[in-house]
Amino acid sequence: MRSYCVIFVALLCCSLGSSKLFDDQLRELTEFLRLQMRCGYPPRGVPVLAPAQIAYQQVALATESLGCRGNFTELTLEGLDGYEFAKLEWNNILHTIKFDINFPRVSVRSSKYMLDILARLFGSDFALWGDGVFSLELIDFRAHGSFVIRPTTASSGVYVKSWQVNWQLGEARSQTTGIMNSRLYTKFVNDLVKDYLELLVNDNPAEVSQFMEGLIVPPLNAVLENVAWYEITAIILGLVDGVLPVEPIC
Ligand SMILES: *[C@@H]1O[C@H](CO)[C@@H](O)[C@H](O)[C@H]1NC(C)=O
Repeated sequence: MRSYCVIFVALLCCSLGSSKLFDDQLRELTEFLRLQMRCGYPPRGVPVLAPAQIAYQQVALATESLGCRGNFTELTLEGLDGYEFAKLEWNNILHTIKFDINFPRVSVRSSKYMLDILARLFGSDFALWGDGVFSLELIDFRAHGSFVIRPTTASSGVYVKSWQVNWQLGEARSQTTGIMNSRLYTKFVNDLVKDYLELLVNDNPAEVSQFMEGLIVPPLNAVLENVAWYEITAIILGLVDGVLPVEPIC
């Protein structure tokens, strides 16, 4: 692969300026990624993402106002591969990717969850427990912004920097069952989760952007560390016909 470097660089220089082509190639890449999400990519540590399934997950969370301990069985995350791009542009001079992506429906479901929750309300502790089916859906979860791809100094790989992405949430649907074994508590908590998530995402752009960056960028960079600069540029420019499979690699 490395021996093609010179050819790629030469072709890359010839391709400067035809930015429409780049965007089409980039779109093709996202279609491939959509398919690949169903297989994951074990050699680079990427699990199956569509759907992402975890047999059993323990949680233990303690903040000033909320503590939460327990576990989820048969946890399934669906909809990550349902994305739609309203905008996807590659700037070849600045190596910036500008995008506007929408996830029409992302759902998290557990066939059985058990949680002990401790919330601080009006200065006193308020204990809740839940035991049932966990169900949360995010409708029209949109991200728009840009990031830059740069070569790393330490390896021949690349990394993502200048992550500037804003998030919006159309609607949250919480349909968890079994809170305090009470319909009243269950409805209260579901309504609370819905309002909380909608307000949290839509009214705290800086914090949400930072949180999502922490969630997405480190694993993304771990994968990109193994991708050479000329490889990624060549892929984006569409110079490597036949390297990018149309069928997912499983
Ligand atoms: C799951 O969490 C619940 C609630 O905290 C706890 O009672 C239960 O023992 C946990 N189950 C396992 C297998 O750890």
